[in-house]
Amino acid sequence: MIDQMVLKVNNLTIKRGENILVNNISFPIYKEEIFCLVGESGSGKSITSRAIMGLLHKSRFKVEGNILLNTRKAMDLTKQTEKEWQKIRGEDIALIYQNPTLALHPFLKIGTQMTDMLRSRKELSKKKALEEIYKQLSLMNFPDPKKIANSFPSQLSGGMNQRVMISMSLLLRPALLIADEPTTGLDTINQKKIIERLVELKEKYKMSILFITHDLRIVSQIADKVAVMEDGQLVEVEPLSVIQKRPQHPYTKELWKQLPDFWRKEEFHDSRS
Ligand SMILES: Nc1ncnc2c1ncn2[C@@H]1O[C@H](COP(=O)(O)OP(=O)(O)OP(=O)(O)O)[C@@H](O)[C@H]1O
Ligand SMILES: [Mg+2]
Repeated sequence: MIDQMVLKVNNLTIKRGENILVNNISFPIYKEEIFCLVGESGSGKSITSRAIMGLLHKSRFKVEGNILLNTRKAMDLTKQTEKEWQKIRGEDIALIYQNPTLALHPFLKIGTQMTDMLRSRKELSKKKALEEIYKQLSLMNFPDPKKIANSFPSQLSGGMNQRVMISMSLLLRPALLIADEPTTGLDTINQKKIIERLVELKEKYKMSILFITHDLRIVSQIADKVAVMEDGQLVEVEPLSVIQKRPQHPYTKELWKQLPDFWRKEEFHDSRS
């Protein structure tokens, strides 16, 4: 692995009024690393990803600490203006939302949303942009990408919209992809294919991925590092092989116990390459 840090979260605390939603967490993500963030519902995973993506409204949330990004240049994400964010989002970091309806415009066709996004950042003819979009959609297992591009989100299933959103997030080849439960709405076969494709594209585009999931089977297949969140705190951050062999924190032990033996085996993890 190339030893270059892409993201460094330092003492991040997120408050909403009196409530501390995330409590003083720190972690680095390295280039081309898959960093899996796990933890029970409500532990603070999505809100952490929204803070990294600069999506927490200042009037509602108080964010303390630093979030350093080192992609085109080094910058502290907590100090960027909305104008700067427009360039950062998509190119430096892209987010696949847990809920696709948050990311897709309901009244615009998929193709229009995707070409608008691509052409707002790149000098491309409409024809070239469409070609790129069809290519990206077929990578996400759509056999007829033209038909998908011609549809409104309401004409597609939840799982299809999820795959559209993944295609969209990859359009600008971000240095860091944050994937928040990206495959929850998918059937097992599509889930497997999409995860494999994401890992392939990570290598091709030399991306890092912050992968948020409840599914420890996925974690044991793709993670380089695993971070466990409990009640707003990061209780353990270790390489997958370490956390598999010697989970330290009681919560991690309990979590790992729920995984069937087959998935816990290291040989399985090694055999994927
Ligand atoms: N928009 C919001 N306004 C107020 N509180 C919020 C908001 N979003 C999340 N929270 C609170 O922050 C805490 C963490 O929520 P978060 O969505 O990050 O959990 P999560 O770990 O992603 O859970 P899940 O696995 O169910 O997606 C919860 O207590 C939640 O109620
Ligand atoms: Mg969540």
